[in-house]
Amino acid sequence: MDVGIARERIEGERRVAATPESVRQLVGLGLGVRIEAGAGASAGHADADYEAAGARIVPVLDVGAVDVVAHVRPLDPTTAARLKPGAVTVGLASPSTELPTVRALAAAHAAAFALELVPRISRAQSMDALTSQALVTGYRCVLEAAIRFPRFFPLYMTAAGTVPPARVLVLGAGVAGLQAIGTAKRLGARVSANDIRPASADEVASMGGTFIRLDLETAEASGGYARELTADRGALQRQLLAPHVAEADVLITTAAVPGRRAPLLVTKDMVAAMRPGSVVVDMAAESGGNVEGSVPGEDVAVPTADGDGEVIVVGLKDAASDMAADASRLYAKNVANFIALMTSEGEVVPDFSDEVVAGACLTYDGEVRHEPTAEALAALASATAGPGGPGQGGLGGRLDEEIEGGAG
Ligand code: NAI
Repeated sequence: MDVGIARERIEGERRVAATPESVRQLVGLGLGVRIEAGAGASAGHADADYEAAGARIVPVLDVGAVDVVAHVRPLDPTTAARLKPGAVTVGLASPSTELPTVRALAAAHAAAFALELVPRISRAQSMDALTSQALVTGYRCVLEAAIRFPRFFPLYMTAAGTVPPARVLVLGAGVAGLQAIGTAKRLGARVSANDIRPASADEVASMGGTFIRLDLETAEASGGYARELTADRGALQRQLLAPHVAEADVLITTAAVPGRRAPLLVTKDMVAAMRPGSVVVDMAAESGGNVEGSVPGEDVAVPTADGDGEVIVVGLKDAASDMAADASRLYAKNVANFIALMTSEGEVVPDFSDEVVAGACLTYDGEVRHEPTAEALAALASATAGPGGPGQGGLGGRLDEEIEGGAG
């Protein structure tokens, strides 16, 4: 069986779903590997390195000619429609936002696996792309702050005087937030953090940060994720955070609630109350923003309330892609490990009795297997049909009939 890896087509995406190292792993499993020419160039891998690892370089990847397609960004509906029936796809699929692609994958009878859906259990850690990419992003957001901050992060005691350390506040202490705490600590900053999950206090302390306790009940849902706060609780949290934000030189926000818009933790007034020269990095800018007024991919200057200067608010975008080499190294390993889980004697055959395989499955045999996505598609179908319309596409239902034409 052949695994195909195309050059990522989304503008600004520099990562690649395979590295020479992961190609060796796939070839060792008895699989053939086809890589589109130039696919690894922006992640630091030349075609010749892939060839030396055992891959075949093709000028353009024909997704209809391979059995497995590995990707970074979600496929588009046209590409999905070109897949071989029964083809396996492995990559980030963003099912909540890419419903047309999910429909096309189901219609193409693809066995599509979304790495976002890999269950977060110990055995699956080596396939957990959310974690590997959050690690990169958490590291990167501290560097983005440091290069914009007009002061040092560490304490310096020099003959010319003493420079106090920067005070860094991290809001949201999941994988990315903990990595941000560790990175800011290594740069010598004084770091504090807050999160609403009960386990986070110990996790923050283990990274060397000081946990800020707010007089607010913790909010944890199943699987160790956060629960969305009610509007009242959210307002109270902002009020309680305000003095801590005003004290910070650098604020990094990473808060997220799965399947929801990112919670608003910091208002414009809270930003304006910071000292001139302070820097805010909103890691959640692309999913609604933790900071009011942040714009993905842009720096926004907010005048301080005292009129003496401004605070820079960085809307983080494509941060993992900006560190394409190491982000790809980890991501490609996640992909290869997931493919390995389904491979026996050179054949990729999903075994749905395995909870990792079953949990990550988005579509199979013409059905949408991931219930929330199937429900979202059903809601979309009935909204499109309008009042009195058929409203097809129920949970796990076959979707072939719903796809008009199918591209490609
Ligand atoms: P995430 O990206 O969904 O959210 C980031 C952080 O934002 C979370 O820590 C969350 O509690 C926090 N948050 C949400 N609303 C907030 C608010 N209003 N104020 C402050 N913070 C807020 O989370 P991530 O990084 O994906 O981690 C989620 C959980 O999964 C964690 O418990 C983590 O330890 C666990 N995990 C387990 C793994 C495993 O066992 N294999 C691997 C990775 C993560």
